[in-house]
Amino acid sequence: MAHLLHIDASPRGERSHSRLMTREFVEQWKQVHPTDTITYRDIGRNPIPHVDESWIAAAFSPPEQHTPELREAIRLSDRLLDEFLAADIYVIGVPMYNWSVPSGFKAYIDQIVRVGRTFDFEPNDAGNVYKPLVLGKKMFIIEARGDSGFQPGGRYEKMNYHDPYLVTVFGFMGITDITFIHVENDEYGGQKLADSIVAARTQVAQLVGR
Ligand SMILES: Cc1cc2nc3c(=O)[nH]c(=O)nc-3n(C[C@H](O)[C@H](O)[C@H](O)COP(=O)(O)O)c2cc1C
Repeated sequence: MAHLLHIDASPRGERSHSRLMTREFVEQWKQVHPTDTITYRDIGRNPIPHVDESWIAAAFSPPEQHTPELREAIRLSDRLLDEFLAADIYVIGVPMYNWSVPSGFKAYIDQIVRVGRTFDFEPNDAGNVYKPLVLGKKMFIIEARGDSGFQPGGRYEKMNYHDPYLVTVFGFMGITDITFIHVENDEYGGQKLADSIVAARTQVAQLVGR
């Protein structure tokens, strides 16, 4: 039995392609793995606050030195981390916004990249040696884009700060088993979008059935 964390980052509801595809993924997953448990977090509709000065002071100081104010400053971060670390599998829907992730998703990332929880480091004369702490997990990222051509060799490859960023930040925590599913061409609609949805659906069915 595994535990799955389902996250949606699009602010859109029914119009969202990433939401549509994470929903289909999770529904199929439940059929194939009926005993697995699922937690849902909707970042797109319930925004996560950005980190502030108190958060930084708390996150980078030993817990035993925390005042009640500092404890409060990272309370949500602690809750998000407990939720994140309890999962074995992640299904994340996240649009491309201005070549990267939406700022709401970045706010979530900033809350869960925490020393002692998702990574550690040892100071070294030549620079810090970082140690990932989130091991043995599997991640599926469903990304919706308005255009296409962001893949290696594609005409917009150099503008793709989305997939490489997510590979870097989740890899930094130790999550290296990441599969991307893309729904493209929202800006064009019509057949181009329909074909992309069919391709994403086929990939989801293959991945879940495997
Ligand atoms: C603020 C904003 C920025 C966007 N930036 C890009 C972009 O850089 N490249 C792109 O291909 N599409 C871009 N799009 C289009 C979205 O990626 C596309 O509509 C996608 O389907 C949104 O995800 P969703 O359908 O899950 O809501 C942008 C859309 C918005 C609203």
